[in-house]
Amino acid sequence: MKEIIVEGGSPLRGDITVQGAKNALLPILAASILTQDEIELTNCPHLSDAVCMLAMLRDLGCRTEETDGTIRVCARDLAEMPLKDALTCRLRSSIFILGPLAARLSHATLGYPGGCDIGLRPIDLHIKGLRALGVTVTEEEGHIHASCTRLRGAEVYLDYPSVGATENVMMASALAEGETVIHNAAKEPEIVDLQNFLNQMGGRVAGAGTGHITVQGVKKLHGCRYEIMPDRIATGTWMIASVLTKGDIYLRNAIGEHVAALTNKLRDGGAEIKKDGDGLRVRMHKRFRAGGMVETMPYPGFPTDLQSPMMTLLSVADGTGMLMENVFENRLRLAGELKKMGADITVRERLAIIKGVQKLKGAQVHTFDLRGGAALVLAGLAAEDETRITDDHLIERGYDRLEETLYALGARVRVRE
Ligand code: EPZ
Repeated sequence: MKEIIVEGGSPLRGDITVQGAKNALLPILAASILTQDEIELTNCPHLSDAVCMLAMLRDLGCRTEETDGTIRVCARDLAEMPLKDALTCRLRSSIFILGPLAARLSHATLGYPGGCDIGLRPIDLHIKGLRALGVTVTEEEGHIHASCTRLRGAEVYLDYPSVGATENVMMASALAEGETVIHNAAKEPEIVDLQNFLNQMGGRVAGAGTGHITVQGVKKLHGCRYEIMPDRIATGTWMIASVLTKGDIYLRNAIGEHVAALTNKLRDGGAEIKKDGDGLRVRMHKRFRAGGMVETMPYPGFPTDLQSPMMTLLSVADGTGMLMENVFENRLRLAGELKKMGADITVRERLAIIKGVQKLKGAQVHTFDLRGGAALVLAGLAAEDETRITDDHLIERGYDRLEETLYALGARVRVRE
């Protein structure tokens, strides 16, 4: 457990480079299993989730190396062995390994995935998609067993545009016999990044970013070098931080299109957001104005991963705002911690009604999940005096050096281990 201590009141000002995307890196690391050659990934963020994923790959017999933003993986000698539950239960993205393993080995055994406690997070769509490709998947004694002699292409219909299930099927079908079409596929930019990576390996994937993805299976995939896309959720978190503190931040490498839904809401509330060279500049001179409803939905809608930082911003906005969390059924727990800081929030099932207050008060609060933890650090920036955030190392799962970056932008923040 660590404690982050934040003194409120300083506007954030300066230039930062947006980190590589956690939710692109994790499936791409899983996809590295699909070839016996070495792959090299650049612009990799340093995150505990990536460290854990690399540990799982090493458990499977992969050689891995991470030096200063570059990760190398070689899955030449894959071993058919069950992955340690202690590792699989820490990450949602451990489930991404199932598809690639089924494509490379005839058998795979995994513990159930973990990840942020934001809902039940079933894996039925992953299993349904892999079964459609000819993988026999059984669930016994708390483990998932997959066996497959030869993957064959199929029509896969996802009942919900699940990001992870889309990615699992894309990866497995890349080495299947024949064509696979994924209907109602997720459209997130991370899906496009995975498509680009698979094609860089010699795959034949098309349609990522639309609801229909077509994969022509190939016999073999080869090594490659690939640059991970910028993280749109980190970008959005910094945009909200600038608006919240009436600051002025330049976000190098930020891709405006990836944060269009958030930009629309922030501009409605009075923020100045401009494309400037290879990034975005986000400025705010006055108190943010709340404006009606923010609904989370699959991309290109408002991202569920920015719902918590948005709740923090609305808690000190001028007026009343509403947040409807449509993606995960347990992602409004931040409200209870913000109320300890004086926020006026009413939660009814998946709806949060937030009446903005002038200032939050410093308090002792606790992180429940990755994005809620970041949102509490932002709340400390908007509070009078000192906020102490106890964090079970959740924030570093998704933010690369959050505290150091805040400090460089002028925030008064320190960490006690
Ligand atoms: C990915 O999770 C991201 N994680 C999440 O980011 C993100 O919030 C989410 O996509 C939505 O954008 C990674 O990419 C590692 P889903 P994933 O499958 O794949 C239901 C963060 O903070 N569902 O699109 O788990 C599910 O319960 C994390 O960076 C099924 O019912 O998301 C949820 O209600 C949090 N059955 C909805 O779909 C399934 O088999 C969306 O889940 C799979 C999902």
